[in-house]
Amino acid sequence: MPSFSSSTRDIPQVKEIPRHIAIIMDGNGRWAKQRMLPRAAGHKRGVEIVREVVKACVARNVEYLTLFAFSSENWRRPAEEVSMLKQLFIMALEREAEKLHRNGIRLRVVGDIAPFGKKIVELVARAEKLTRANESMTLTIAANYGGRWDLMQAMHRLIEANPEQRGGFTEEQLAGFLSMAYAPEPDLFIRTGGEQRISNFLLWQLAYSEFYFTDTLWPDFNSAALDKAIESYQQRERRFGRTSEQLELAGQAPLVKTELA
Ligand code: IPE
Ligand code: IPE
Ligand code: MG
Repeated sequence: MPSFSSSTRDIPQVKEIPRHIAIIMDGNGRWAKQRMLPRAAGHKRGVEIVREVVKACVARNVEYLTLFAFSSENWRRPAEEVSMLKQLFIMALEREAEKLHRNGIRLRVVGDIAPFGKKIVELVARAEKLTRANESMTLTIAANYGGRWDLMQAMHRLIEANPEQRGGFTEEQLAGFLSMAYAPEPDLFIRTGGEQRISNFLLWQLAYSEFYFTDTLWPDFNSAALDKAIESYQQRERRFGRTSEQLELAGQAPLVKTELA
């Protein structure tokens, strides 16, 4: 398991293109409503946008793209919508796994997927196995994922793996059991659909991510909208608690020196 620098300890390497982008794809329902369509139509269009954004990220050399597809709280939606979302997930896994593989993309799914049923569990296992050696980008789908769930399962596994240890656990120890321990922390967090909240997404890993909120609904998001988010990211100075001068000394000058001041 590779170990990545921690944003609360080191100054992670900052590149012009975010290594890891995490997105809350929100607004499918409202997109459909605006068009007097059933919510399902928004979710279908949302899957097409996933395809476009995945392609755009590969083309821009993003190494990790993480998409929040279904939260641990989304079970509270009407049964009909939950079942429709499950169907879409099945269709996407069946249709896209091969294409992802052809494009050198590794697929990983995080979250407690057992409650989705045997079919999804099997399709996920098959797609993860098929794409496991791919290196052009890692696409992570968070399904029945919750940041609190992740911290709890990491804590349980940490204690189980260290039955003798009474206390003094470190951040690194815990981080090693999070479901995305295989990826660096997100550099850029995007939420579409106008809300400005985390909705129980990657609570631990967003500690020092740059946040970008847009009113654009997910079905209207496209590669140009992605570029706008990346441009905004490039204007930020990521200080990780330090001063600008310290960053310059560490060889991490701001990505783009802004002329605003
Ligand atoms: C995001 O779109 C997709 C999921 C949460 C599955 P929504 O379905 O939340 O769309 P809005 O927020 O109701 O518009
Ligand atoms: C967050 O969207 C979860 C996903 C996009 C999968 P929600 O639409 O569920 O979030 P809230 O309820 O508005 O916070
Ligand atoms: Mg929503």
